[in-house]
Amino acid sequence: MCFRIIIGGYLTRIAQGAVNLRTRLSAATIGNRYGNATNRKRGNMTASQHWGEMVRAEHAQSDSMLKEERPADSWSNFAQQFRADPRRTDDPLVNHLRQSINPGQVVLDVGAGGGRLALPLALDAEKVIAVEPSPSMCRVLREVSEEFGIKNVEVVESGWLDAQVVKGDVAVCAHVLYVIEGIEAFVRKLEDRADRVLVVVFQAAPQSQLYPIWEPIHGVPRLSLPSLPEFLAVLEELKIVPDVQVVHTEPGSGFESLEVAKEQLARRLYVLPETAEMERLEALLPEVLEEKDGSFTIKGAVPLEPRVVSWQPRN
Ligand SMILES: C[S@@+](CC[C@H](N)C(=O)[O-])C[C@H]1O[C@@H](n2cnc3c(N)ncnc32)[C@H](O)[C@@H]1O
Repeated sequence: MCFRIIIGGYLTRIAQGAVNLRTRLSAATIGNRYGNATNRKRGNMTASQHWGEMVRAEHAQSDSMLKEERPADSWSNFAQQFRADPRRTDDPLVNHLRQSINPGQVVLDVGAGGGRLALPLALDAEKVIAVEPSPSMCRVLREVSEEFGIKNVEVVESGWLDAQVVKGDVAVCAHVLYVIEGIEAFVRKLEDRADRVLVVVFQAAPQSQLYPIWEPIHGVPRLSLPSLPEFLAVLEELKIVPDVQVVHTEPGSGFESLEVAKEQLARRLYVLPETAEMERLEALLPEVLEEKDGSFTIKGAVPLEPRVVSWQPRN
């Protein structure tokens, strides 16, 4: 059995029996590995300003590609993909988080989505407070908790900065920060509202595997969202020294056919049917995709694996 999670369009497959192998990396090691490239691009900006600038620039580029208004709830077409069995035992990230959080604690899940993590964590917690601004995500979360009889999850339908929540033992924030412009205030509130903070981010932006295909189609480079390297720079600036662990997951199974690859890549690359961009995408596909055991993946793409960045605030 396997299930699929789409995070900002990035498809991750987590297979049953995947080994929950954890690698401990110090922030300094990762900082050194990524820091130079990050600092080079930063110029005179602080790490937090640079983060906000990256988010703004990526959003402006995405908006410029849109032919119509964004829906008010940008998750309405994807929320169902965050539905997952809370009792699953084959999800390395869930297993990692359940091992790192003591039973009986009050857990805040900030940007809880459809409860993919909040609901499994509720099995051990005294209570989970799930803060989530998207109505469609909240609907999925409430439906799944009802379906599985999980009664200790309180949903706070709000963005994090506006959320009125009691202080918890642990704040979890998974795959949310990439799109948060005001990173410093967001992180400071996580610190204010919990004795321990666990942030989950990929080592690169969720759609970064597609970035190399963007330029041959649109003629300009894709602007990247921030991810782990920029987050570590922000934490360093805030004088936070985190522990960073890699959670190993199995690589995605890929697209089941060329047609599916074309359709999904076109959507993520903002390519419309019967345009010059679509012709360029079609011409590129045989070059950029490789087939293995009947499924297609992007050649040379480095699998995205979650990092759990944790620390205890000095409040
Ligand atoms: C990629 S989903 C991740 C959901 C869940 N954490 C998971 O890992 O399955 C990102 C979520 O962050 C939420 N989000 C975006 N901005 C937020 C904010 N300012 N405060 C709280 N949540 C936010 C979105 O609505 C969305 O549900």
